[in-house]
Amino acid sequence: MFQPLSNVAENRGFIYRASYVPYEGMTEDLPIPAHGDELPCSYVRAWAEDKYRLLYLYDKLFSRGIKNKWTHRVYIDLFSGPGQALVQGSGKLLWGSPILALSVQDKFDKYIFCDSSASYVDALKKRVGLLFPTIDVSYVVGDCNEKVEEVCRHIPKASKDNTVLSFCFVDPFNLRVKFSTIRRIADYFVDFLVLLAFHMDANRNVRSLHEPKKSKN
Ligand SMILES: C[S@@+](CC[C@H](N)C(=O)[O-])C[C@H]1O[C@@H](n2cnc3c(N)ncnc32)[C@H](O)[C@@H]1O
Repeated sequence: MFQPLSNVAENRGFIYRASYVPYEGMTEDLPIPAHGDELPCSYVRAWAEDKYRLLYLYDKLFSRGIKNKWTHRVYIDLFSGPGQALVQGSGKLLWGSPILALSVQDKFDKYIFCDSSASYVDALKKRVGLLFPTIDVSYVVGDCNEKVEEVCRHIPKASKDNTVLSFCFVDPFNLRVKFSTIRRIADYFVDFLVLLAFHMDANRNVRSLHEPKKSKN
């Protein structure tokens, strides 16, 4: 997805991308918010727009491709954010992953959004209420690793005549999503899209990830 690094620098043991070159091949159109809505939003770098284009394309392909094959299609976002993001530097507003998934033409039958930030979930609820008031959405507030059973309770029960396929988007800031969380959700029929923060978390914290945690005493 990324063009070769144009400017890579060493800094205290981790490598960071000093300048970002947008990927010109990714031309998927995004629905763009007309204006800010005064609700909390997250702050992203310019590369997030490529992430959103790829994700939106995948949302559309997935929801259309399975439309007539499963009775229920469920979208699960374990790290949903507030639904809107502001690009640092340019000030451009982008819809976040939950709103993109809700914007596809062949909508999922059910959406489950989880975020550890109560104010982000509250903002997302308000945005969804305004933009998609009739859609079946469940919200879970808290650490998805701790709330995984609550997330699973919202997945409709499947039977021979009521087949259920979910798409689970996993988009953490760091590498702290537990494999047991993914494994629990994988008890259902689910496709996962997991973004791993290798440059952000792994490069930066490679030493601490290998060292045992120091006691605070
Ligand atoms: C990279 S952002 C995700 C943004 C969103 N997926 C999007 O693309 O618009 C990560 C989000 O995860 C939330 N978060 C952090 N740790 C979490 C956890 N353990 N469980 C659930 N949410 C968490 C943060 O509040 C933040 O909104």
